[in-house]
Amino acid sequence: MAAGLPEETVHRLREAARNASANAYAPYSEFRVGAACLTAGGRIFTGVNVENASYGLTVCAERNAVFQAVAAGERDIRAVLVYTSTSEPTTPCGACRQVLSEFGDDIAILCHCDGDAVLEYSIVELLPHRFRL
Ligand code: THU
Repeated sequence: MAAGLPEETVHRLREAARNASANAYAPYSEFRVGAACLTAGGRIFTGVNVENASYGLTVCAERNAVFQAVAAGERDIRAVLVYTSTSEPTTPCGACRQVLSEFGDDIAILCHCDGDAVLEYSIVELLPHRFRL
């Protein structure tokens, strides 16, 4: 078990995020990110970073994965795995932490890469005292 998830589920999330990362649109940074989120019902949705010539319009992989889930009617997210083909794992940016925290109080965040290091957090650890309305 990793982050309370069966190894098989983590493997599926990793493969989904890794495969998705091949479709990242990152011509400016060349930093390709893939994300896979797991819903309460066991569905997996993926996202990639999509950059723009107007840099500030870039959307990260994590947010795109969550938006895919929400567009499909899923609002209860249990885990998000972020994959980068780097030697060290990448953690979600602050904006993504806020967006993720909207859809689950106990989301497991798993950060994988091509190296051996894996980081695992809960969303509350990464973003305590999130903004709420
Ligand atoms: N990026 C993500 O997609 N997720 C993260 O967690 C960090 C950053 C993207 C945004 C941009 O396209 C590129 O990585 C470099 O910042």
